[in-house]
Amino acid sequence: MRQQTKVVRCIETLQMNEDTMTISKAINNATRRIPAWPLYILGTLPIIWAFYAGINGLWGVDPAKAIERQVGLWGLQLLIASLAITPLRNYLNINLIKYRRAIGLLTFFYIVVHLLVWIVLDFQFYWAEMWGDIVKRPYITIGMAGFIAMIPLAITSNNRSIRKMGPQVWNKLHKLTYFAVIAGGVHFLMVVKGWQVEPMFYLAAIFGLLFLRVIHTRQNTAKRRVMA
Ligand code: HEM
Repeated sequence: MRQQTKVVRCIETLQMNEDTMTISKAINNATRRIPAWPLYILGTLPIIWAFYAGINGLWGVDPAKAIERQVGLWGLQLLIASLAITPLRNYLNINLIKYRRAIGLLTFFYIVVHLLVWIVLDFQFYWAEMWGDIVKRPYITIGMAGFIAMIPLAITSNNRSIRKMGPQVWNKLHKLTYFAVIAGGVHFLMVVKGWQVEPMFYLAAIFGLLFLRVIHTRQNTAKRRVMA
């Protein structure tokens, strides 16, 4: 009886693997035909819409704050999406690597807009007060640290930088993404009052994705050792 259950489970697992393979194959075939450049255009549409809605009074009594929060949230979602690309390839065989640069640059663009709304609409260029906020409010300090970490990533996100730095150094530098995404998640947790589910859900996703990366790197190192 036990043996039978084991065999059934084994067949089910094989079927599930086959289903995943079929889905990943279908996605990979579709994405092979879709270039990355339309993402840049599509990605800017929500920002245009956010400001259009603000001008037309669709964001309620405090449109600046609403836009700031919405764009920040989209920025964090994009940051998490860029973190998910490698685990998707490693674990589900879904290859979205060619969209990684576009998603990364869009993320940076969203966070720049988020920051600009804070500078222009929230503080109206009162630099001294802004500096006071950066130093006094830990959630702003952490958000700022996350943003600063993203600057070298955006600057070096081109083929020339990869060639100049060499893939190893470039990969090391781009590990800053981990810091930026954790800072973004913690910043969100600190922005909301009390212990709310939404930011905790985002942080769980961030740590889950980072954990998957660590496991995969360890497995690869172990495999290489065995081969050697
Ligand atoms: C990695 C960089 C950052 C990410 C991912 C990020 C993300 C977020 C998120 C998700 C929210 C909350 C949205 C919501 O409530 O639904 C938020 C709010 C906010 N963020 Fe950021 N942020 C970043 C950097 C910054 C920076 C650099 C500043 C300014 C210096 C900033 C200022 C703010 C402010 C003022 C709020 C709204 C707080 C309030 O509601 O009173 N953020 N951000």
